[in-house]
Amino acid sequence: MSTEQVPAEGASHPTAEQAITDRVNNRSERPSSDAFKAFMTSGWAPRPDLGVAPLAVAPYSAARRRALSGSFPGARLVVPAGGLKVRSNDCDYRFRPHSAFAHLTGLGTDREPDAVLVLHPVAAGTGDDGGDHHAVLYVRPLASRDTEEFYADARYGEFWVGARPTLDDVSVETGVEARHVDELRDALAKDVGEGGVSLLLVEGADEDIAALVDAIRAEAGLSDAAQTATSDDALTEAVSELRLVKDAHEIEQMQLAVDTTIAGFAEIVRNLRRASGHRRGERVIETTFDAHARLEGNAVGYETIAAAGAHATTLHYTTNDGAVRQGELVLVDAGVEVDSLYTADVTRTLPVDGEFGEVQRRVYQAVLDAADAAFAVARPGSRFRDLHAAAMEVLAARLEEWGMLPVPAAESLSPEGQQHRRWMVHGTSHHLGMDVHDCAQARREMYMDGVLEPGMVFTIEPGLYFKADDTTVPEEYRGIGVRIEDDVLVTEDGNVNLSAALPRTPDGLEEWMRSVRG
Ligand code: GLY
Ligand code: MN
Ligand code: MN
Repeated sequence: MSTEQVPAEGASHPTAEQAITDRVNNRSERPSSDAFKAFMTSGWAPRPDLGVAPLAVAPYSAARRRALSGSFPGARLVVPAGGLKVRSNDCDYRFRPHSAFAHLTGLGTDREPDAVLVLHPVAAGTGDDGGDHHAVLYVRPLASRDTEEFYADARYGEFWVGARPTLDDVSVETGVEARHVDELRDALAKDVGEGGVSLLLVEGADEDIAALVDAIRAEAGLSDAAQTATSDDALTEAVSELRLVKDAHEIEQMQLAVDTTIAGFAEIVRNLRRASGHRRGERVIETTFDAHARLEGNAVGYETIAAAGAHATTLHYTTNDGAVRQGELVLVDAGVEVDSLYTADVTRTLPVDGEFGEVQRRVYQAVLDAADAAFAVARPGSRFRDLHAAAMEVLAARLEEWGMLPVPAAESLSPEGQQHRRWMVHGTSHHLGMDVHDCAQARREMYMDGVLEPGMVFTIEPGLYFKADDTTVPEEYRGIGVRIEDDVLVTEDGNVNLSAALPRTPDGLEEWMRSVRG
């Protein structure tokens, strides 16, 4: 497979002078004769009508853009989708747009490399939906069949990667005016600087667009790097905070992601026997879930953790190449990302043979009690940090009871103590959405110190992890790792556990595993 244009036949053959960067195309040669070009660009039937229709998300993404508009009057807001990323030589990774772009356009799956959403400032109240901006999507549209791009451009050409949408298609789907990406530079530069328009960029999405924005600023005499970084930070923070409270469409997509994930956990249980019979049984679990994610959704939302036995005590274990042994637990942390790019993030710790041992059950129950304590405070008016505090109170008390804490639980829970965190060094909750760790650029006062509101979605995921070589715990606990992770929606008067359909009590899990295995 090649993903770059191959050199034309008759072009000079590789020599010692050929630049290293040009050598990725050395495997084949494309004919360059006029006869070939004429033949390639003719003889194609008219394109069928693809029946492109407005996306169901379009009114929601319009409302999100409108909300953003109000915070940045007079500023041109630049939201790149990002570009294709090289995996090696001329092979790219599968494309996934930046979440801010997907959120504000409604485009998901692999759409659209190199596209940029721009909110152009207009006179107050005269913009889209009565806002202060007019949105334009700059995209690389489908090239006509009389162009070389059609058959010769391995990165973007229809012959290589399939037909791209036209400008009209994009506009009909998103409800946003669509223009050719070639117009982007002039559109960004218009009235910047002395014309009174400032340019704000969502950071971390596209280095090429960041360089373009910098160049335009420099040409306009806006070279105060500290000032521009502050402005870009403000926009990056705003698009992240915009996702803290999910709208109805997002909540529906989150539930879809969770339901699809739960079906993936059932697939895992159906394959547990195969896993315990394979030398790399953790890979059986990983690939069972990942295949399901790709079949029923867009992808996994993050690398699947399939951690059997003591591997479960390594928090971000993704090597997944170990054996899955009877009598042990296997911790599975996995989430399906659906086509709209919302992802679930669910963990269950399963007994490989279908039944918890006594110590395993004891540890599991402590983690479950900690999770339930966090659920009990997950309601409007609580602070985000209260979730963690509630879970830690339970775990510290249980660790004290088991004689593991070197100090009383109360002392451990004080800021000066925290000894209980030896066995759970991660946080209890994070916001969840298009990114598994969603809203990560939000301000502390909006996130960790923020007050819970209806529409927020986050995880509750306490755990206990006793490493195999931890001499501070009794031997019977060593090598046991348990995490229980659910996805939670705050409602007007409490919360809904979106992942409640996947049992989470020890008895419930055992019963569910029996019924799934049949
Ligand atoms: N799966 C990553 C996390 O639970 O945060
Ligand atoms: Mn999580
Ligand atoms: Mn997780």
